[in-house]
Amino acid sequence: MLFTVVKPKPFVKWAGGKRQIINILMENIPNKFGKYIEPFVGGGALLFELLPKKAIINDINGELINLYRVIKDSPEELIESLKKHKNEKEYYYRLRAISPYDLTPVERASRFLYLNKTCFNGLYRENSKGEFNVPFGRYKNPKILDIENIKAVSEYLNSANIEIYDFDYKEIIPEMAEPGDFVYLDPPYQPVSKTSSFTKYTKYDFTEKDQRELADVFKELDRKGCYVMLSNSDTNIIRKLYTGFNIIEIQTNRPINSKANKRKASAVELLIKNY
Ligand SMILES: C[S@@+](CC[C@H](N)C(=O)[O-])C[C@H]1O[C@@H](n2cnc3c(N)ncnc32)[C@H](O)[C@@H]1O
Repeated sequence: MLFTVVKPKPFVKWAGGKRQIINILMENIPNKFGKYIEPFVGGGALLFELLPKKAIINDINGELINLYRVIKDSPEELIESLKKHKNEKEYYYRLRAISPYDLTPVERASRFLYLNKTCFNGLYRENSKGEFNVPFGRYKNPKILDIENIKAVSEYLNSANIEIYDFDYKEIIPEMAEPGDFVYLDPPYQPVSKTSSFTKYTKYDFTEKDQRELADVFKELDRKGCYVMLSNSDTNIIRKLYTGFNIIEIQTNRPINSKANKRKASAVELLIKNY
């Protein structure tokens, strides 16, 4: 049994991560709710801020979800495996070339976390075959191993009632949501222009059709009596899809964006609530 007093925090760098606007998100959560549901959990910025006792988390990225599960079930094995990595270009490309499907769950999680910490911009991107294809990041001293945090996250995931899935979000909601639950939807954003936004977290893109279907699911959850909050970009389509709900404009500086390492342009994004 592991004991720690450290507060768990997100363990991956994630495109569209919400740490930057976490205070605004916290100001907007409902006062009281049943379970917490996050169908596009990514790095889980809000999950680790809220630390709910009962939750369902999900992401279509199987590598990411395998890492959540390994941190929960095998933190010590993961820590031992992470100690073996080297922040070197050749080592990086050798490990990147290995198929995660040829590895044990612990090795797979270790490879994924290593690549996340050492790859360019902390981006997760796949080619059309579903292979991770981001180049080496040349960081001087990346924090590949954070023992304290792995233990803290593991302890949290084991002490609370957290169900973890790697499905398409439609397999989770609306079915698994009950009246009074709080659902936070943070999908890949609707692109502001044709070239500006990152929507391909996996080989599957998130298209305008997906945004429309998600808006239908939002409305179904609303009818069901759930509290629903959604993040997205400020576009005409998104404003139209959520007309009639509470739309809040938020000022942000997005660190991971196209050409993001050079530019940190401020942008408005939307937070949409049914309460
Ligand atoms: C904007 S990110 C979420 C960021 C997260 N809130 C954070 O703080 O790191 C969107 C996530 O949705 C996931 N995703 C994309 N399409 C999905 C789908 N159809 N079902 C479930 N998850 C999906 C991506 O893998 C990505 O992790």
